[in-house]
Amino acid sequence: MIVVVFNQKGGVGKSTISTNLAAQSAKVGHKTLLVDLDAQGNSTHYAGFDANEKSNSVADMFKQVVGIFRTAKKPIEFIHPTPFENLFVMPSSPALADVERELESRYKIFKLKDALKELKGEFDNIFIDTPPNFNFYSKAALIAADGFCVPFDCDDFSAQAILRLLDNAMELKEDHNPELRLLGIVVNQFNSQAKLPGELVNSLKSEGLPVLDSYISATVKVKESHSKRIPLPFYLPKHKATGQIAALFAELNADKT
Ligand SMILES: Nc1ncnc2c1ncn2[C@@H]1O[C@H](COP(=O)(O)OP(=O)(O)OP(=O)(O)O)[C@@H](O)[C@H]1O
Ligand SMILES: [Mg+2]
Repeated sequence: MIVVVFNQKGGVGKSTISTNLAAQSAKVGHKTLLVDLDAQGNSTHYAGFDANEKSNSVADMFKQVVGIFRTAKKPIEFIHPTPFENLFVMPSSPALADVERELESRYKIFKLKDALKELKGEFDNIFIDTPPNFNFYSKAALIAADGFCVPFDCDDFSAQAILRLLDNAMELKEDHNPELRLLGIVVNQFNSQAKLPGELVNSLKSEGLPVLDSYISATVKVKESHSKRIPLPFYLPKHKATGQIAALFAELNADKT
């Protein structure tokens, strides 16, 4: 299954959730690919991958698409192992920002879908992290995916942004990827002690939005695992937040059928 984690709002937990879902998938024995489409490279870093000038990145794959690189590498050549068993990454690079306009003006929006189609047989699961914009890369990801989930950070502005986002995503689905499924809203940074998060989640539900049952709590352990560059399933297998990630992974997987 190809799953995109997307929200055009920044800092809601896209990189945290995509990397941890990929890590959980790998941990339970699935060969898993994490594609990092954000030039910030947060999920590449979090998954423990150290890029150097020789490592082929997803930006290099796109440069090949528009002929900036006159190479003929296969999609698999842009994939690298991480320190974690079964977890592979197609790493980001700051060069993603340089090539975006060229890709857009030459209508290369389906190239990621083509590349991932070639890789689908190689991997059991593919998770895609996206930038905090409805730009070429997030659109290409939504076109390439089977489903998408939307992290929600329990903030009022975030609730309004979700309705706009869903309109945009549904238009894209209609035009370019009729198979795309909204897997659900992922409640992140949930604090059951405070009143507001619960109220906001209830307001999303009352709008008829599909809020997934597995909430991710706000915990300092998430930030700790970021700084150690060890996703939660490998860093703290028994922690409550890891259990929540595992439950979320199972919920998304159950949706496959
Ligand atoms: N459940 C959580 N508990 C505590 N901190 C969290 C949690 N989820 C995310 N964070 C923190 O919030 C910040 C933003 O998270 P993250 O980078 O995953 O968001 P993002 O949506 O990918 O951001 P961007 O839009 O910049 O790519 C990070 O510092 C991260 O450690
Ligand atoms: Mg991010």
